[in-house]
Amino acid sequence: NIVKVILAGGVGSRLWPLSRKAFPKQFHTLFGSEPMMGATLQRLNGLCNSHPVVVGNEEHRFLIADALKDAGHDSASVILEPEPKNTAAAIALAALEIAETDPDARMLVLPADHWIEDDGPLAEALSAAMEHLTLDDLVAFGIQPARPETGYGYIELDGDGSAPVRPMKQFVEKPDRATAEKYLESGRFLWNSGMFLFPAQKIVDELQAHAPDIMAAVKRSFDGRKTDGIFVRPDAAAFAEARADSIDYAIMEKTASARVIPVNIQWSDIGSWQSYLERGQAGQACDERGNVCDGDTLAVDCDNSLLVSRKRLVSAVGLKDVAVIETGDAVLVMPVSEAQNVKHLLGALNEQG
Ligand code: GDD
Ligand code: MG
Repeated sequence: NIVKVILAGGVGSRLWPLSRKAFPKQFHTLFGSEPMMGATLQRLNGLCNSHPVVVGNEEHRFLIADALKDAGHDSASVILEPEPKNTAAAIALAALEIAETDPDARMLVLPADHWIEDDGPLAEALSAAMEHLTLDDLVAFGIQPARPETGYGYIELDGDGSAPVRPMKQFVEKPDRATAEKYLESGRFLWNSGMFLFPAQKIVDELQAHAPDIMAAVKRSFDGRKTDGIFVRPDAAAFAEARADSIDYAIMEKTASARVIPVNIQWSDIGSWQSYLERGQAGQACDERGNVCDGDTLAVDCDNSLLVSRKRLVSAVGLKDVAVIETGDAVLVMPVSEAQNVKHLLGALNEQG
């Protein structure tokens, strides 16, 4: 039994001003014809036998419920976090919920904000791997790295071969630039896609072993939960005590049970305006000088620039490697190379929505 678990509680702070606390990026249509959350609700459904479990923020319950309705899911379980505590706590909540009804179930953990051109190769890789997996394996999906990206986790493959599931020598979350360059050159590393296949009881046990404080707080909040239709509300006071950490640092770097399914997919975590620009360029959604223009825009004599307009005409002359993002109530202008620093702007703005 494979249960789809969708992580939908991120805020997408590097995609400000489009992505807002009250309306974060996963609910936007950035590429393709539907919001990323909707695309995730359709993804790999052929392999999942139960209704999906969505873990998201209380504040986004209506956005989540609408996305479920649009995707044709009349049954689902939506776990509403009173505040974001990162992915270890979110995955712990889903694991407790799923293990309670079926301890042998596997969770297919999918971030709600990824763009995947075609999930066919992913479904094939997973199907081929299933017979080689046990209920002790924590599985990451690895992607061939394209550049020394410091925003991703890296998976070192153990040995050679082309088996559908490979042993993992080490997992390194978000290495610095020099380390990422070294990994890329070695040819032995894959990017961690952020999608995982976790047996529900096994991930509960691993959280208990490697992050007992997080598990204890999450367990108390889960035990005190209230259910209201599709919504499940963990106890807020107990959840507030959970330490915020990602599953990558809390478990994947530490566990001895990790394995990897290498997948060959066109994939992007649209994490920043730089990756948005690169995605547009890769998908040929740019002009001959590499400018990606989205909305009512006019670029004259520009190179490798990103113009995004939602409400007003955005026009630019002679820009090179610059991003201009307009959303009606805010305008962001920056060199594309500063894209990772947008989150610091939010700190300075103390932006509330
Ligand atoms: N429910 C819930 N609660 N979801 C969350 C929370 C939370 O507190 N925090 C983040 N998420 C969701 C995000 O919306 C996203 O879909 C997913 O969990 C991953 O979180 P990110 O914050 O986007 O992580 P990241 O991109 O920095 O790193 C992860 O993904 C990379 C690939 O995109 C790691 O797994 C890296 O190792 C990986 O390379
Ligand atoms: Mg991400």
